Amino acid sequence: MSAMFAREHGGGEAGLDPSSLIWQDERHFRVHTRAYTDQAVFDAEMARVFSKVWVYVGHESEIPNPGDFKTAYIGTQPVIVSRADDGSVHVLVNRCVHRGAVIARETRGTVRDFTCPYHGWVFGLDGRLLAVSERNDSGGYAPDFDAPEGLHRVPKVDAYRGLIFANLDPDAVDLDTYLGRAKKTIDRKFGRSPAGRIALRGKPFVMRYQGNWKFQIENIVDAYHFLHTHKGFVALQAKYGESTGDYGAHKGGSAKAMRQIRFKGSSWALRHGHAQLENSGTADPEALLNGPHRAYYEALRDIHGEEEFAFVVGRMSGTIFPNLGLIHQQIRTWRPIAPDLTEVTIYLYDLVDAPREFNEGWMRSQERFYGPAGHGMADDVDIFARNQQGLAGSAVEWLVLERGLQTDEKLASGDIKGLPASEAPQRALWLAWKQLMARR
Ligand code: FES
Ligand SMILES: [Fe+2]
Repeated sequence: MSAMFAREHGGGEAGLDPSSLIWQDERHFRVHTRAYTDQAVFDAEMARVFSKVWVYVGHESEIPNPGDFKTAYIGTQPVIVSRADDGSVHVLVNRCVHRGAVIARETRGTVRDFTCPYHGWVFGLDGRLLAVSERNDSGGYAPDFDAPEGLHRVPKVDAYRGLIFANLDPDAVDLDTYLGRAKKTIDRKFGRSPAGRIALRGKPFVMRYQGNWKFQIENIVDAYHFLHTHKGFVALQAKYGESTGDYGAHKGGSAKAMRQIRFKGSSWALRHGHAQLENSGTADPEALLNGPHRAYYEALRDIHGEEEFAFVVGRMSGTIFPNLGLIHQQIRTWRPIAPDLTEVTIYLYDLVDAPREFNEGWMRSQERFYGPAGHGMADDVDIFARNQQGLAGSAVEWLVLERGLQTDEKLASGDIKGLPASEAPQRALWLAWKQLMARR
């Protein structure tokens, strides 16, 4: 810990006050290095953030039938998301109540019940303890054994348009309130499907990066970095983008055109830490309506109306704090493992009832930018590792997130609207983080 930090903040692990790691006043919005690097901060995040807010755990299409399950994490806590015989969805702590083994290790599967691999206790799809193995054999349990009821059930589970969220805090606000204006990103993204639904495509792409989990949130809604971090991709796209087709995802033509797009529209820092980049002006509705997928776009315009149509087909991305991102045609989720280690999972999806070639086109566009063969994602992951590397020393304490601060417009709803390419979306997470971390 540096001398300056100790002087201003009292210093010492015992006296750690994570909420003081944000320097916020009229002219400043800065985040202290330790918010990204400190184990004590990380531990506090698991208790005060991930155990208190709605966390994304999966999409309903991953568990369509009774007996289907998938595994996920709430922070560092492993959980099982299961569908019981009556169709209800349960989120269960993935830890045997006997001696703690993880019950399910597969990412997805179908079972009649969950049997612990260690000593064979059996649990129902809703988590209820169904059987204790060799219960009455010699050395077994007493007749009045106070058996646990079953796997710990996460007390709050709810879904919005197929996205399943869980909350470890029984007193948390309801999901609808929590999502607030962030629902617009979901509605518009999924609204590109004439049926209003998405279908996850195959298996997800999983990767880890050597950096803090909050770098991923900041980056997914960062219009500012694109031209710089992805310089190589921009040059390629400018040259070949139009001829290879990209369905407007990463506008080709010229670097200038790509820059202009990123300096249009609005950025949002929403209540509860969600963020949005929103632009109704990045797509040319007339061109789309006269292009190769005319019938599809006409159907969307009829469903959404002229004004909303421009948003639905425009460029947008959003984060739902603390672990869900909607960008391109993908659902992205991430989980913190350590202050400097994060796992990211990307699920590509199809828009139900959109033309097949249209979905294929977006798939090709994703391959071009994301994944092991993509031009863009490797750039971002490299930056996350550079970020963490840069924060290793203590000579400089604060990171500056003040871009566009002076033009932020706070609305009556509590949401903040910023200019495009401002850092309002990056500030969103820190505003919620500060509040949550201040609570004990
Ligand atoms: S730890 Fe699960 S049955 Fe023993
Ligand atoms: Fe990027």
